Amino acid sequence: MHEVGIGLIGTGFMGKAHALAWRAARAVLGDLPHARPELLCDTPAERASGMADQFGFARACEDWRELVGDDAVDVVSITTPNRMHREMALAAIAAGKHVWCEKPMGLTLDEAREMAAAAAEAGVKTMVGYNYIRNPAFLHARRLMEEGAIGRPVHFRGVVDEDYQADPELAWTWRARLGEAGLGALGDLGCHLVSMAYGLMGPIDSLIADMQTIHETRPLPEGTGRADVENEDTASALVRFSSGAQGTLSASRSAWGRKNKLAFEVHGTKGMIAFDQERMNELQLYRDEGPAGEQGFKTILTGPAHPPYGMFCPAPGHQLGFNDLKAIEAGAFLRWIAGGEKSSPDFAEALEFEKVIHAIARSAREGRRVEVDG
Ligand SMILES: NC(=O)c1ccc[n+]([C@@H]2O[C@H](COP(=O)([O-])OP(=O)(O)OC[C@H]3O[C@@H](n4cnc5c(N)ncnc54)[C@H](O)[C@@H]3O)[C@@H](O)[C@H]2O)c1
Repeated sequence: MHEVGIGLIGTGFMGKAHALAWRAARAVLGDLPHARPELLCDTPAERASGMADQFGFARACEDWRELVGDDAVDVVSITTPNRMHREMALAAIAAGKHVWCEKPMGLTLDEAREMAAAAAEAGVKTMVGYNYIRNPAFLHARRLMEEGAIGRPVHFRGVVDEDYQADPELAWTWRARLGEAGLGALGDLGCHLVSMAYGLMGPIDSLIADMQTIHETRPLPEGTGRADVENEDTASALVRFSSGAQGTLSASRSAWGRKNKLAFEVHGTKGMIAFDQERMNELQLYRDEGPAGEQGFKTILTGPAHPPYGMFCPAPGHQLGFNDLKAIEAGAFLRWIAGGEKSSPDFAEALEFEKVIHAIARSAREGRRVEVDG
């Protein structure tokens, strides 16, 4: 397959990230089919045509159903608000398209299950936007753990903090509604942390959790009063992995000062690895070795020794950025679509992440430890 026709729905934060990623993937990573920017959809029509021109798409439309049914579109990128993911993905799958959908897949676990089942039945290829697990620094942490650098991993301590909902007077948006966003901090941020915990430690079996809505109402944008915030601002969980290891996961969208503190420490029997997305090009590694007076953390800056960093830049320490993770993601999907190695997570694998965030919400509501698969 030499060329793949791209259909992009949505042109906001993630829409632009997907558009850039589709354009960059082959140029950076090589040995991939051409991603042809074919059709872009947004509303209203003027926005769609303006963004198609800006992003270099051949055509624009206002109706996403037209896009998923278009013969020249092979892959559909879904970057719209959460409440639209299910309907758009199911229609694209029914039309035989491959789908790259932003996280979270669905508003509820049932929606995510339905999407995974439809993809499996249709046999199309899917991918969910868990970009942070594409980071060469994250992949290196995993490699170090596989090589035994920190011994047996026994304790995962993960946190994901942002402050985009910290201000109580910030206007109410779709992100505050169960019917449009689904979960709050868990669906927006917590699922990314779960994807990292899962990638390093394996599946989570059970957990006990709590959550809170700090700002219970927010002003309506039109200045006509206030509306209820229906989902959580923070959530915290004690988790047990299938491996027997334990951990903590905590997510907040109201953590002043934190811009994208998606961070973890993995404690092992012989050392520790720490990472923070706000410093996404470095890892901290502590190994129990050497004389006591010389022990300490080593800072590892990513470079060409950490693939695929070298495909972007031949010099270590010059640093990748958020949009580069999206290019790596798009490249992995293109490779799979062209018959190469499978990329992850597909809908079935992402469903496992979403089971965990919904289990956290269930445990918090029921006030008890729950099985993730329960
Ligand atoms: N992977 C990540 O790191 C990451 C980061 C941010 C957001 N997201 C996810 O991406 C999704 C979108 O978030 P965002 O921040 O880009 O939102 P956004 O508000 O910036 O963009 C949403 C886009 O969808 C368009 N849209 C809305 N209704 C539409 C319709 N009926 N037809 C066509 N287009 C329509 C909007 O006009 C807008 O262009 C969410 O699911 C969010 O959770 C993922």
